[in-house]
This record gives sequence, C-alpha cells and structure tokens, in this order.
Amino acid sequence: MEQITKGKRLILFPLPLEGHINPMLQLANLLHSKGFSITIIHTQFNSPNPSIHPHFTFRSIPDGLSETEASPKDIILLFSLFNTECVEPFKLCLSSLLSEEPVACLISDSIFHFTQSVAESFKLPRIVFETGGMTSYAVFTQFPLLREKGYLPVMQDSQLERVVTELPPLRIKDLPVIPKGDPEKYFELCVVIMTKIAASDGVIFNTFRDLEEQGLVTLHKQYPNLLVFPIGPFHKCVPEEASSSISDQSCISWLNTRAPKSVIYVSFGTIAAITEAQFLEIAWGLANSNQPFLWVVRLGLVHGSDWLEQLPSGFLENLNGRGHIVKWAPQKEVLAHPSIGAFWTHNGWNSTLESVCEGVPMICMPCFSDQLVLARYVSKVWKIGLQFENGTERGEIEETIRKLMEEKEGEDIRDRSLKLMEKANVSFKPGGSSYQCLDGLVKHILSFE
Ligand code: UDX
Repeated sequence: MEQITKGKRLILFPLPLEGHINPMLQLANLLHSKGFSITIIHTQFNSPNPSIHPHFTFRSIPDGLSETEASPKDIILLFSLFNTECVEPFKLCLSSLLSEEPVACLISDSIFHFTQSVAESFKLPRIVFETGGMTSYAVFTQFPLLREKGYLPVMQDSQLERVVTELPPLRIKDLPVIPKGDPEKYFELCVVIMTKIAASDGVIFNTFRDLEEQGLVTLHKQYPNLLVFPIGPFHKCVPEEASSSISDQSCISWLNTRAPKSVIYVSFGTIAAITEAQFLEIAWGLANSNQPFLWVVRLGLVHGSDWLEQLPSGFLENLNGRGHIVKWAPQKEVLAHPSIGAFWTHNGWNSTLESVCEGVPMICMPCFSDQLVLARYVSKVWKIGLQFENGTERGEIEETIRKLMEEKEGEDIRDRSLKLMEKANVSFKPGGSSYQCLDGLVKHILSFE
C-alpha cells in the first residue's frame, strides 16, 4: 500500500484546541505511516510546535481573533468566530498549496464546517475528522428531532430526569448541550456542522467498532450514503510524540511509590472549569476517601483562582504524601501505570477512550456537550464506571469512591473495563476492525484521483 500512496499529499486542518489538535496530529502520523505526505494548516492561535513533527509541512494562517475572543470560555462564540474569521486566510493558503502540487484530499475538524464549501469550490474532496465519539455524534444528528419533540432547548428542571424515549438510556439532563450557552446559537451551530458532514466525502472517528456499534448503526440509518471510518484508538496505533504542553514528570515517580490499583487519577481535560465550592468539595471528598490520589489542577480550572490558593492551608501536608497535585500530567502514561485504580474524569472523548484502552474504571463528572452523553454511556451502557448524580458533594464523592474501590459493584466494573480493553487492543492489530477500516480509508482516498 505504501508504494501506491507514496508522495500523495493530504492537507489536515485541526481545530486549535488541545483535545482536537492532539488526535488530529496522531491521525496525521497514522496516515503518514501509510505513505502519505502531510501538510498541516493551522491557526496562529494555539499553533502546534513544528519541531516535534519534522516529517510534516506546516502552514500558518491568521485567525483574526483578538486576545479576548481567543478563549474557550465562550466556546459557542469561539467556534462561530473560527468559521467566519478563518474563511479568507484558509482559502488563500489552500489555493497556494494547490498551485504547488496535487493534493489527494483535505481532512478538517468537523467544527470547521466552512471548509466543506471551500473544498467544494476547489473541487477538492473533504473528509471530516470528528474528535468526539460516534455515540455522541449520533445524538447530535438527532437534534432537529429532539427539538421537534420538545426535548430541546433543555429548560424545565422538573423534567431533567425523564428518559428521552427515542434515545434510551439518555435522560433529558444527558443531552449534549452547553448549559450556560445560548441554546439557539448552539443548535444552529450543531445543525450546520451535521449538514456539512453529511455533504462530505466521509467521516473519521478515533474509536473502534466494538465500543460504539450502536452509534454506528444510528449513523448508517440517518445518513445511509455517508462513509464512516472508525479507525482508532490512534494513540495505540502510532508511537507517542512529545506534546507541546509540559507534563509534570513527578507524577510517575510518585505513582511508583503507591500500591497497585490504589490511586485515583483526577483530571477534567483542557477546557472544563469548576467553581470554588466544587473545588473544595472535591478536595475534601478525596481527602476523606482515604485513597491515594493524583489530581491535575490545570491553570484556570477553578473560576476566579490562579491555582491552589483556595485549598485550606496545610491540606496536602496533612495527607502525609497520600495526595499529589500537578498542573499537567502525562495522562496516557499515568493511565497505563499499574498503580492507577480509577479515573475521575469529565468524560471528554479523548480521556474516555484513553481510560478504556488501559482498562481503568471511571468516575464520571461531565461538564458540557458530548461529555454528558459519554458519562451516561460509561455508567449505564458500557458499565465501566459510576456517575455522580447530585453534582459534587463530599459525602457522595466518598461513597462513590468506596463503591468503586472496595465493593463488589466496583469489582464487576473493573472486570468489564478489562474485557473492553482487550477488545480495544485487538481492534488495531492485523485483522481487527480499525486495522481493516484504515485500509478502507486509504483505498477511499486513492479512489479520488
Ligand atoms: C473536549 C470534548 O469534550 C471532547 O470530547 C472533544 O473531542 C475535545 O474537546 P477536552 O476537555 O479537550 O474535551 O478533553 P479530552 O477530549 O478528554 O482531551 C484531553 C486531552 O488532554 C487528553 O488526550 C488527555 O490525555 C490530555 N491531558 C489532559 C493530558 O495529557 N494531561 C493532563 O494533565 C490533562
């Protein structure tokens, strides 16, 4: 296959947020390993570090965002601005690249929906990369129906526990909304993203078929002509590269001192933020659980706080080394460490998949959008974790941790997590579903000529 693909160029355009750039670069590596040449077009905002990827060509475009606009605090506004401000610079850059050499296709993040019409104007095939999983994506495709049936916008508090008849076991409160965002603008954004995906030449997911078969079936029903390529987990298929974020390596030496499967790893991804009250409940819940914990408190995680200044003085010292807090962890390495017993996560897709791949049971605390769907699936469909039901309150935190770490229910969850990990590990090996699907994707790209 490498012989046929050799020299064929692909242009990739990642959305400039960590949870999107990283898997796109992993995808680039995967396709490069199949013989393709890779050009990455990227915005100036959150630009990747080309020196980490010397085998790719990088082209930067201005994004036109002011310092205040370039912030994931108002994600709906940010995504909308990307789709207006990047249009002209992207067109210019693409036009110049196309004048230099032939390009087999464009692969762009689903949120950059404007790239569909730009690609069409250049008669360039576009394949979409959807960084969330197929399960949540399948729910997004139902948005018009959910609105028609009155489930959206999510408004009545008394109805939140009601199961969505069309999408069990999701309840109204599990629908992938952005609680503090403008529901109308969000709805419009989701619908246009879905419409542009449906018009594309295919969609790639960082997932494996055994995990998200149900999502795949829904997608086939909704869009019978859309080609779907579940070819993950990427990070297991290509060697790990250095990240542009600086990880605190003290995590690993600290984990080396802990007993097997004893540590709760706590991290809420790259965008989610919590209140000071939540932060303190989490801190006390962890302290009272009597389990060792490794906690990523990202800069900006706690509203109105720089880092740890809200913690009561002497909090960590009084735990005698049972707790370790860092600003950024080498997450994949942490999850693969034998001392890790559970992952308290916000259920971003990357974190969820990374946990599945290491057989680590989850404690789910979703914040917004796809995370809400995923938390429900982790706890009620895949049954590889427990979800907090009453927000975060220290009593519930202690009880949930005890259930997962000490009781029979936790043992069953751990067994199922390990079985799913085995399925993940088979999927990308020769003969596995993702392996075969990747071959299908390569053939599909070659067929564009
Ligand atoms: C959001 C969405 O919820 C997710 O589904 C979407 O596809 C991307 O954007 P995000 O907050 O970025 O999620 O979380 P997640 O998807 O879990 O990605 C976080 C990434 O950062 C993971 O790959 C994780 O390994 C990495 N990470 C996080 C670290 O390497 N170290 C840390 O300390 C924290």
